[in-house]
Formats: sequence, C-alpha cells, structure tokens
Amino acid sequence: MSLKSKNDKTITVHSGRKPSEQNGAVNPPSYRCSTVLYGSINDMQTTYNNRFTQMIYGRIGTPTSFALEEAVSELEGGYRAICAPSGLGAITATLLSLLKAGDHLLMVDTVYGPTREFCDDILSKYGIKTTYYHPTIGKNIAELIQENTKVIYCESPGSLTFEVQDIPAISKEAHKSNIKVVMDNTWATPLYFKSFSHGVDVSIHAATKYITGHSDAMLGIAITTEELYLSLKEDFIKFGTCGGSEEVYSGGKGIRTLAARLEMHQKNAIEIALWLERHEKVAKVIYPPLKSHPQHDIFERDFLGASGLMGVVLKTESEADVTNFINSLKLFNIGFSWGGYESLIIPVWHISRNTYELEQNQMIRLHIGLEDTKDMIKDLENAFTKF
Ligand SMILES: Cc1ncc(COP(=O)(O)O)c(C=O)c1O
Repeated sequence: MSLKSKNDKTITVHSGRKPSEQNGAVNPPSYRCSTVLYGSINDMQTTYNNRFTQMIYGRIGTPTSFALEEAVSELEGGYRAICAPSGLGAITATLLSLLKAGDHLLMVDTVYGPTREFCDDILSKYGIKTTYYHPTIGKNIAELIQENTKVIYCESPGSLTFEVQDIPAISKEAHKSNIKVVMDNTWATPLYFKSFSHGVDVSIHAATKYITGHSDAMLGIAITTEELYLSLKEDFIKFGTCGGSEEVYSGGKGIRTLAARLEMHQKNAIEIALWLERHEKVAKVIYPPLKSHPQHDIFERDFLGASGLMGVVLKTESEADVTNFINSLKLFNIGFSWGGYESLIIPVWHISRNTYELEQNQMIRLHIGLEDTKDMIKDLENAFTKF
C-alpha cells in the first residue's frame, strides 16, 4: 500500500522510515557527518548528481534529515522540505531566498517578534521594504499589493494574539499577481492545517515546538511546493543553513508521536479554555476552537484541530495583579517557547511588538501541556486568589 493512500496518523508513524536500509533499526539513525567518502571519482560524481536525495556532505542533507523532511512534507501535502537550525533560521533563509533588493514584502502585523525585527533591521538594509497588514484583512490584501510585492507572509493564528487569517482569500489575491505566500504554520503543525491545499507556497515550522516536542532542541523546517523547492534548497545551502544532526534526529523521533501528543494538548486546552471562560476573574479567552473567538468560523472551515497555545485576558486593571497571578503558579512555569509536554505561561506585554490594539497589560499566554487538567485547574484557581 502506498503511503499516499494512508491517513495522517499512519503517515506520522511510517513516512520517511526505511528500516530495511537501516539494519532493521526502527528509527533512522543520527548521521553525525561532515565528510562522506567515495570509492572513485565516478562514484563521487554520481552521488553529487543526486545530492538532494543522497548524502554527499553533512550540510546538504543526511538520511536522518531526508526522513524527517519526507514525513513532514507528506503530512502537510507539500512537495519537499528543508531543515534549518531553528524556526527563525528557516524563516530568514526563506525570505532572503524569495526576495531581492527593490522588492516589497507584505507582512502580517501580529507576526512573531524576531521575524518582525529581521524585516525591520536586516531586510531594510538590503533595500527590501516591508508593509505590515492587519491579520484579519482577508481578500482586502489586494489593496496593499504594489507592483514590486513579491511575498505575502502570514502567521495563523498569530502566536501571541491568535487572530486566524483567511489564508485561501489571501492566497487567491497573491497568486493573481504572481506573489508567493509564505506561512508560519507552527501553531497548527502539518497535522492540523494543510497549508498547501489553501494556497500556501512555503510553510514554515519552528520544529523547536511541537515537532521535536520535548523542549530540548532548536530546529526549523520549510516545506515547499515543487516549483520553489530547488531554488530554496540551493539557497539554503548557500546560506549554510541546515539542521544539526542531533536536532534533526529529535525532530524525526518527535514526528512519530505528534498526533498522540497533539490530541492530548488539544483535549486539555479545550477543557482549560472552557473553564477559564466561565471564571469571574477572566475577561476573555482567545483560543480559535472557542465559539467566542472572532474568527471561529474561519478556524472551523480551514483547520483540522487546535494545539495547546492560547491567550487569556485577566479581569484587572493592575499589572501587579497579573504579576502576582503568574508568580503564584506552581505547575505553569514562566518560559518562552511552547510545544513541549509541559505547561507554560508568559505575560504578553513583555514580548508583543504588534502595532495595533492589544489588551497588553492584562494578557497572558498559556501553553497547555500534558499534565492532568484537574491539577492545572487547581494551580490556576489558587493563583486567582492572589488578586
Ligand atoms: C510562531 C513562531 N514562529 C517561529 C518561532 C521561532 O522558532 P525558533 O525559536 O526555533 O527559532 C517561534 C519561537 O517562539 C514562534 O513562536
């Protein structure tokens, strides 16, 4: 049976693994490799000609990275994938590859802060202009397209403020003008948002989050269409952008349990979100699966599930209340990042760089982990008594 006819959970378990070529080992081993030795010049030349599927030098790819890349691209419906040393590394290499001096980039205003800094501080130095657009712009993105616009970049939901973008509408307008759509799809993972069937050209994952899943690795992945694969891959090589051997191995292990972990993150997160929504000290829970979310209909239309990251606006005017609340939590540790097995919390005002309305001082971001929800609720309830 070809993997094409299999369902997502089966793909996560089997795609990219070739035990018969690995002495029977279940997992593709970690190839810690720079130099590759050849038997002859002819052998070297033949291998070089197949350099995107065979190992010629560590930076270009190994059976470990090929296996992970095959699994994620098959899962999301892309052509092929390329590993990078971090999510941000995949983002910056993709933008540098797709843009050149004189080009214009349309960037969602709610984008991950360091992506914004890259546009403002680095792309600007190379003559690439960025215009920020409102995340709910939808088809009206057409009004912002200029003659030199080459890329529209989306992040949906925004990883701090959780607006769900109308990706099909944006892609439709982009493609009318031969503009490429790049999306940060880290929140939903290749399981819960099939970006390529909604018109995305390059889907980027901070595999640091759910794909590796254990908060112990930095890894990025760009998944692309067939049209863009070769030029992106060659540029990633020129930038020296690749995944480290142990990190790629972690990603390859993580993908095998992604479906089971995400199901649990989602179940726990929905339970906690509904509990928080009813709480007298909560003004708002911003989580796309909730009916109260402003773009819930788009989420229902386009997404197959939700991960465990959400925003919560506390009912207080005082920043000290929010600080006391966070400091009193025992299970929810304070920490950047998300996507590991543990629950985390962060005050949004410390990291947001949005330019539009945000209830910054009262907003927190929760990552709901795999702990027992009864214990999480007890922890949150105790912290609520602190203000
Ligand atoms: C939405 C999103 N994209 C990209 C990144 C960057 O990933 P990395 O930390 O692996 O560079 C992050 C990290 O927090 C993120 O939250």
